[in-house]
Amino acid sequence: MVSEQQFKAELQNGRMIESVDEMTDGYLDALKTILTVSGDTELMSAPAYYDQSLNAPSLNARTSCVSVIQDELGHGHIAYRLLEDLGVDREELIYGREPHEWRNTYGFDQPIENFAELVTAHGLFDRAGIVLLGDIHENTSYAPWKRALTKVSKEEQFHLRHGETWMRRLARKNDKTRRKLQEAVDWMFPIAIEWFGLPDDKKRHDDQLEYRIKGMSNDELRQAWMDSTVPLCDELGIDIPAHYDEESEEYVLEYDLPVAYDEENKEWLFDEPISWSDVIDRWRSRGPANEKYVNMIQSGKVEPAA
Ligand SMILES: [Fe+2]
Ligand SMILES: [Fe+2]
Repeated sequence: MVSEQQFKAELQNGRMIESVDEMTDGYLDALKTILTVSGDTELMSAPAYYDQSLNAPSLNARTSCVSVIQDELGHGHIAYRLLEDLGVDREELIYGREPHEWRNTYGFDQPIENFAELVTAHGLFDRAGIVLLGDIHENTSYAPWKRALTKVSKEEQFHLRHGETWMRRLARKNDKTRRKLQEAVDWMFPIAIEWFGLPDDKKRHDDQLEYRIKGMSNDELRQAWMDSTVPLCDELGIDIPAHYDEESEEYVLEYDLPVAYDEENKEWLFDEPISWSDVIDRWRSRGPANEKYVNMIQSGKVEPAA
């Protein structure tokens, strides 16, 4: 077996991995971690999207919403199937964990309480998924995941288009729908910004990058997300706390990341700075809808694909 350093160098030079016997322990651990976060995030988006899908304003919209949910269950299944090949028990993953043990992104621990919030989740959160998985699809050294993501990427594009179409409609329909959209963006935009994690200058080493399980750093991914989200919100006349800075040639936030979040009122406290370890504590304590969503999956109310 080559040294860990040599192994990482080969991966950086384009070496692809097909199975467990080609991995070091470090690679296997890093891959399991990111696949669990990805699978949990896909699966938990399904119950998060469920209630308001039934509340969509037309039969057409409802059909699209429900097919998004079906896709997300399928995406969760793909990640868990890959984990099974790494020796993880899929039944245990889905049915054997307590709600607080799930590793999905914090955004899908939040209640989605009206149709504007649902389509904003498609426009902002599914877009974050596309940015994260698009990077993996293009750059990952784990060949089975790269192949599986071809199908996932196509479906995510449909989720995003559905979200953007409805965000446009709500922005233009009347003052009330525009206000609902603005209120949704107000709490969801900073959640998505936080989702990409610690800034690069605070993150000393990143196994997922060193093993080329992913290719882009947290800040590059955050910029890529803002690169399409900020122009969309500008076009719709929706206020966001970010803009493009000509001088530095990048998107900049108009607040000091990270800040406190009042979960009950869905309100960001922009003048209450916190540390990244506070953010990680908040994520680990899970959000207000975590138990409800895990129960929906585990009780079979929203069935994962078999
Ligand atoms: Fe998905
Ligand atoms: Fe999606």
